[in-house]
Amino acid sequence: MCGIVGYIGTQAASGILLEGLRKLEYRGYDSAGIATVLEGEIHCVRAKGKLINLEEKLAGEDNPARIGIAHTRWATHGKPEEYNAHPHMDTAKRIAVIQNGIIENYRDLREELKSRGCEFRSDTDTEVIPHLIAEQLAESDTSLLEAVRLVVNRLKGAFAIAVISADYPDELIVGRQQAPVVLGFGQGEFYCASDTPALVPYTRAVLPLENGELARMTPLGVEIYSFDGHRLKKTPRTLNWNPVMVEKQGFKHFMLKEIYEQPGVVRACLEAYFDGEWAATDADKSPTHLGLPPELLTDLQHIQIVACGTSWHAGLVGKYLIEQVAGVPTTVHYASEFRYAPAPITSNTLTIGVTQSGETADTLAALEMEKKRRSGFTQPELQSRLLGITNRPESSLGDLVPHIIDTHAGIEIGVAATKTFVAQVMAFYALALDLTYRRTAKSPEQLEEILIGLRQLPAQMEVVLESQERYIEELAHDFAETQDFIFLGRGINFPIALEGALKLKEISYIHAEGYPAGEMKHGPIALLDAKVPVVAIAMPGAVYEKVLSNAQEARARDARLIGVTPMDEQEAADTFDTLIPVPHVDELLSPILTVIPLQLLAYHIAARRGLDVDQPRNLAKSVTVE
Ligand code: G6P
Repeated sequence: MCGIVGYIGTQAASGILLEGLRKLEYRGYDSAGIATVLEGEIHCVRAKGKLINLEEKLAGEDNPARIGIAHTRWATHGKPEEYNAHPHMDTAKRIAVIQNGIIENYRDLREELKSRGCEFRSDTDTEVIPHLIAEQLAESDTSLLEAVRLVVNRLKGAFAIAVISADYPDELIVGRQQAPVVLGFGQGEFYCASDTPALVPYTRAVLPLENGELARMTPLGVEIYSFDGHRLKKTPRTLNWNPVMVEKQGFKHFMLKEIYEQPGVVRACLEAYFDGEWAATDADKSPTHLGLPPELLTDLQHIQIVACGTSWHAGLVGKYLIEQVAGVPTTVHYASEFRYAPAPITSNTLTIGVTQSGETADTLAALEMEKKRRSGFTQPELQSRLLGITNRPESSLGDLVPHIIDTHAGIEIGVAATKTFVAQVMAFYALALDLTYRRTAKSPEQLEEILIGLRQLPAQMEVVLESQERYIEELAHDFAETQDFIFLGRGINFPIALEGALKLKEISYIHAEGYPAGEMKHGPIALLDAKVPVVAIAMPGAVYEKVLSNAQEARARDARLIGVTPMDEQEAADTFDTLIPVPHVDELLSPILTVIPLQLLAYHIAARRGLDVDQPRNLAKSVTVE
């Protein structure tokens, strides 16, 4: 979604704001804009398209203003044109506002303002805000903070805003209602941004605003108020990030860097979730240390997982693990569907929200709905039990659910999720094994075997990266003109087929479908001919022979067959035209390895096509609107 950034302090604001936008561009890149207060006027510059266009417009400008706001847009209301770019101003151009989110009642407010003679310059929902603030200031002799406070109380929806005024050159007002915004604290200078990567180059002292809070930032300090006007006491916390984490470190794209970070992420997850020494002889203690309380997990009859996009795919892997290893019936729902058509209430049910950002509006709303609909019950078995799996425990999800599994992937900048997916899957291994242990669903020896396999994964992932990247880069040349791809998998690798197809769609704009291999004959097989490559994931285990047979069916239709399959498997070698070998691994653990070639394939095809891998068209990393 959109990214907002603000600065007030001792230095020239525009450079800091542009640098901040660069770090937030993953949130949207339909247009960008900046407004500063300079010599009693608002100086506002906006440009359609990526940030580079705004930078070109600003080149050569020497703007000494020490206060400003800036925005990078993912269009919701109004086309991605310059006149719809933020900041938006009131008629007299004394107030400038940036917003991330949606003002749901903007039509009513717009009509109301129009009836009083107000003329609009954009099609956006945001433009009502500067006009309303201007009216408040004109009506009474009130402060900028109070005017903004009165206006935010009239807004419906999910939003984060930042406001400056030419008449208040030493004040930056920031507000939050259901959309993220974090404040940063320096020496006599203060920042706000939609996300922390924009702040870490300057400060690690941060304070996320909570819903219904406003901040008044001046060069002297920051005051926090509730939307009803009460002053609140808050203390910043220190981030343990460093600025290097948000740089490409020699890689051409963030996505490639993040693919390469995956073995390290799995090591971090193994350390965080599992007892590194655990063996079958330790059966009197748990092999996991997730820190989840017994009341969350005892007597579970049902687990429901809600998520969107790649996180939904991780949820499908989670379902397989939880059902097949721990034996708990599990359903996986698109959060955007579940929030309006929830499954009937069942007893002793754990609801898990999976979201790397912790800010996806649909996932948050599905969890909120679940919490609310169960709050009316007094029977303990019907009360809500909520768990979040996220890479951002400090996010809105962290406020909403009482228990979190942190995925420890570090900040992910590429819009296409890679390392955060692998980390979510690791969280599900941990949860499934935790439940398996509690329910004695497997013997200690079986548990030990899984743990031994998990501990070997990072080194095996490194083998895939080292041995396959060059090869996949070359293979990608063959698909420069390809228009359709099919990805097949079964069992635990079906979600990986979905994920492989999603990655390719997202960044290369090639149509791709992920399908359970056994279902191909019920439809997608009609698409096959020599121009449609089929990527099949065939790992020895319960469905190995079946997948190879399904692949043969595709071959009989002239499709080019690419197999992600273990090294030295003769049968697979005879079946596939092209092999992408991965190390031998238990089928149950294979998704962590099989997803890597698919990520690399999508990456290299997109890079080969000269596309913007880290910022694919129309997408945003974190979707904070419905
Ligand atoms: C967007 C992103 C996807 C992501 C999805 C869910 O669509 O482009 O990469 O999988 O949101 O995001 P979340 O932060 O909830 O995991």
